[in-house]
Order: sequence, then structure tokens, then C-alpha cells
Amino acid sequence: MHLQVSSVCKTFGHGAKAKLVLDRVSFDLHAGEFLALVGSSGSGKSTVMRLIAGLDRPSAGTITIDGQPVRGPGSDRGMVFQKYSLYPWLTAAQNVAFGMELQRRPRLEIRERTAYFLEVVGLADAARKLPRELSGGMQQRIAIARALAAEPRVLLLDEPFGALDIQIRESMQEFLHQLWRQTGLTALLITHDLEEALLLANRVHIMAPNPGRIVRSVDVDLDRSNMAHLRVSPGFLELREELAQSLRGLEPALSR
Ligand SMILES: Nc1ncnc2c1ncn2[C@@H]1O[C@H](COP(=O)(O)OP(=O)(O)OP(=O)(O)O)[C@@H](O)[C@H]1O
Ligand SMILES: [Mg+2]
Repeated sequence: MHLQVSSVCKTFGHGAKAKLVLDRVSFDLHAGEFLALVGSSGSGKSTVMRLIAGLDRPSAGTITIDGQPVRGPGSDRGMVFQKYSLYPWLTAAQNVAFGMELQRRPRLEIRERTAYFLEVVGLADAARKLPRELSGGMQQRIAIARALAAEPRVLLLDEPFGALDIQIRESMQEFLHQLWRQTGLTALLITHDLEEALLLANRVHIMAPNPGRIVRSVDVDLDRSNMAHLRVSPGFLELREELAQSLRGLEPALSR
């Protein structure tokens, strides 16, 4: 799998109201990598995601997967959003099965894979529960299980933990890291949280607004075997602070 975003521009509106929202955004994502896009509100992160998902088209530039241009949504890309996007009238298991049913997989295979992915996200016991009976963190784990069960080649995560409180958020970050290590998934994470990006990604692209663009890219090579320890280790804090300064320097003074 090779996702290639090349010199992508996006303009919304026309004529005098035209606004350049993405300015020549380029990056690559290869199988097994975990990439993060970090930036303040309005830097165009979700727009990049929607273009990769095929929900919208670039105004210029190209997005390809293994050399094939993205022309619309497809099950090769699994999506998880900030807002819990589970179907409230379906049980956890039915939600996980949903994408596979759209793919018209055999019933037995759907049943087995549903059980497997509920197990992977640690929620086998919640199979028959409705979303409203589950905590926010559990709902996001179901959403991730649903996306993974459809065997996407890349998992696209747009602020997946943004609505969760800090403790649950931290345990979800550990969960996602373990999942990545165990399943070898390929992921693109969008977040405004620099710490989250550095804890999870092999490579982080920092975006700035007006117009949205990548202003800095860093390879991140950290020992993540003990994430709680890593969060407070001097090297990590130093890296985070250094990058935070470059992020702050890019924002208008009033935005914080
Ligand atoms: N459909 C649209 N029509 C017009 N403007 C849009 C549209 N979608 C996004 N924008 C504008 O594009 C810019 C980037 O928006 P986007 O949602 O991609 O930012 P973001 O980085 O995801 O922000 P946040 O962190 O708040 O989610 C914003 O100025 C937004 O108002
Ligand atoms: Mg967004």
C-alpha cells in the first residue's frame, strides 16, 4: 500500500469569495506506517482527510493509492471520526458487522470476524449492548473495530479521542498503539494534540492555517514500551516543547 498525496490544493467558494484552504500539501504513507497530521483548528486537517476518503475532490494536485487516483469513497479506507458514528439502533456487534454486510461477505465469516474484532478491542462482553449503554471510549473502540473489520488498507482517524476525557484518552492512546503493534495496521491520525501525535506516529507533519499547509515534518523514533513513562521522560518533553513552540509561532496571537 502506498498512499501518495502530491501538491494537493483545495479552494472553497468562487470568485471574490474563494478561499485557499490547502496549499500544496504533499506526503506519503506506506504500509505499516503510522502517520500523524497535527495542526490548530482551521489548518485544513479534516479537509485533507475528506479528500483522501474521496468525500471531496482536490482543486489541484493528486491523491493516489498504489498509483490509482482516489475517485470516491471505498472500503480500502476505513474511517473513524471524533463524533461517535455508531448506529444507535444497532448493537455493538451489529455495528462491527455493518461494513462487512455492505461488502456482502458470507454470514459465517461476518460472525467470526465480528467476534474476533470485538475481542481485539477488548469488548467481547459488550457484543449485545447498544451504543448508549457504552462509555465514549468503548464506543470509539467499537468504531475502530467496525473500521478494521472491513479490512481497509489504511485507517483514517480524525480526532478519534477528541471527545474523551483525559484519562480515557490516555488509555485509548495506549490501546491504539498496542493495536498498531499487534495488527500491523497502516494509519493516518489527525489531531490537534501534539503529545498524542508524538506518542503514536512514526512521522508527524505539522500544519499551519491560512492557507492550510505542512510547515514541518519530523520522524519520531521513541521507545514506546512504557507509554506512561514516556509521557514524562525528559527527551519526550523536550521534543514536544520544541515542536509546540514552532506550532505556537505559527498561530495568530489571539487564537489561544
Ligand atoms: N465545505 C466547506 N466550505 C467552505 N469552507 C470550508 C469547508 N470545509 C472546510 N472549510 C474551511 O476550511 C478551513 C479548514 O477546515 P478544516 O475543517 O479542514 O480544519 P481542521 O484543521 O480540521 O480544523 P479543526 O481542528 O477545527 O477540526 C476552515 O477555514 C474551514 O472553515
Ligand atoms: Mg477537523
